[in-house]
Amino acid sequence: MDYLQLVNKENRLHKNYKPKNLVEIEPRVKGSIDPNRKILVEKKVFDCWLLLKSDAKKYGFDFDISSGYRSYRYQEEVLRHYIKEEGVEEALTHVAPPGASEHQTGLAIDYFYVRGNEYCYDVKELDPEFVWLKEHAHQYGFIIRYPKEKEEITGYIYEPWHLRYVGNDARYMHDHNLTLEEYQELIKEECYVKKIN
Ligand code: DAL
Ligand code: ZN
Repeated sequence: MDYLQLVNKENRLHKNYKPKNLVEIEPRVKGSIDPNRKILVEKKVFDCWLLLKSDAKKYGFDFDISSGYRSYRYQEEVLRHYIKEEGVEEALTHVAPPGASEHQTGLAIDYFYVRGNEYCYDVKELDPEFVWLKEHAHQYGFIIRYPKEKEEITGYIYEPWHLRYVGNDARYMHDHNLTLEEYQELIKEECYVKKIN
């Protein structure tokens, strides 16, 4: 598994692509688009998520997953749903076209947090849960994939609820405030520099 795989509008996946090693998780809530949908994520991602989740518990934070792996066809459904609700232009600011979603890799997670009986999907910048996550997610291999002020680079609005597993490289990306697009460019440049030296 290539944990640094770049998937975006310029780097799309085949419609039949499905990652190996998906594990099923017990959803705490039913999805709004398809209530019977199972939640699946790549195994390593899930193991790291569980570590994060259990450390977060020590601070009184209760995180959970609302969306993990999405097939090409399900992404089509998600996009159709939002187009109906918001129109094409608005929908495409936060929903990837089928084949262009990294949810299809099984490496992306949309999370929410639970406060007593309240389920918080609308992650806010100053929520203590998010403040903690922003500071610690990289220690578990995750990055905030669509950060603020990087919309031009990622092609999406700020999505504080969307995490992407990248593994050990998350630390460098976090410390240098790099998106996956920027980090991949850096790797390419470094390979080039190595080649010409
Ligand atoms: N929300 C992200 C961009 C997706 O649909 O994959
Ligand atoms: Zn997402």
